[in-house]
Amino acid sequence: MFPYMGGKATHAKWISPYIPHCSTYVEVFGGAMWVYWRSDKTPVQTNVYNDLNRHLVNVFACAAVDYQHYQEVLQSYIFDLGSDEMFIEYRDEIFNVYGDEFIIPDYPLAAKYMLCQLQTFAGNQGFTAKSKIYKSPDPKHKFVAYTEKFGQPDYVKKLLQLTTENMDCLDIINKYDQPDTFFYLDPPYKNLEHYYTEDDFGHYDHLDLLDKLRNTKAKWALSYYWFEELEAMLPRDRYVWHEQNTYSINARHSTWKRTELLIMNYETPNLSGFFGDS
Ligand SMILES: C[S@@+](CC[C@H](N)C(=O)[O-])C[C@H]1O[C@@H](n2cnc3c(N)ncnc32)[C@H](O)[C@@H]1O
Repeated sequence: MFPYMGGKATHAKWISPYIPHCSTYVEVFGGAMWVYWRSDKTPVQTNVYNDLNRHLVNVFACAAVDYQHYQEVLQSYIFDLGSDEMFIEYRDEIFNVYGDEFIIPDYPLAAKYMLCQLQTFAGNQGFTAKSKIYKSPDPKHKFVAYTEKFGQPDYVKKLLQLTTENMDCLDIINKYDQPDTFFYLDPPYKNLEHYYTEDDFGHYDHLDLLDKLRNTKAKWALSYYWFEELEAMLPRDRYVWHEQNTYSINARHSTWKRTELLIMNYETPNLSGFFGDS
């Protein structure tokens, strides 16, 4: 729904056909929740956004509880766009309550968070306590584009059916683990965890998550880049592995190939050849 470090905006199209029939859809590592917004398989009966970052949860809670009021509050901050002083003031206010159980929904706090988040340089680490303002040369500012989303019927329809949670990944899995649940999991990629403010998702957290996934009643699909332990913990002969090659152009204009994995614990439709590499 907004540009986010590691967001699945460009991958949602090939991931979406793998979403199975379910009555509860949960994004365990919500971020900006691109797969939910871009998929034609959602919304289902119950739709859950979860993230450990309480500020992100607050943003989605404000939008889901009263999107019209949230849009008005966002618009009242447009005059602060491009101001170094206001960026620093809001950034410090946000990190002052970071990790606290502030009350959700808090509309001004959500607007300030998005104002800062969308004025942080996308090529750097995500929004942190030390981020500096980035003044984008784009004619339409990302923050303005974000405020306009709440006038789009497709977004609003999905928003109105969204429940928000602020839990650790293992706790949210425990809470919703039922046969008619589908978990989409997009954890911080291994060795890139420092891109997120929640940067303590370390080696053993990845292993605990894999272990948890081996014992669920629910269906799940897990996005990752390859690392060795995946082969032993989610072996290819017991789980469905899909590999998607993606190409990007780096700052030196050379093409760069990466293989995105989607590992699933259920029978999937045969989509090979349907979606080419992206
Ligand atoms: C790769 S991003 C998800 C991107 C998302 N799929 C999207 O399309 O924008 C990973 C997210 O996991 C969150 N996170 C980190 N540790 C977590 C934990 N232990 N439990 C739940 N969420 C966590 C981070 O705050 C971050 O937003």
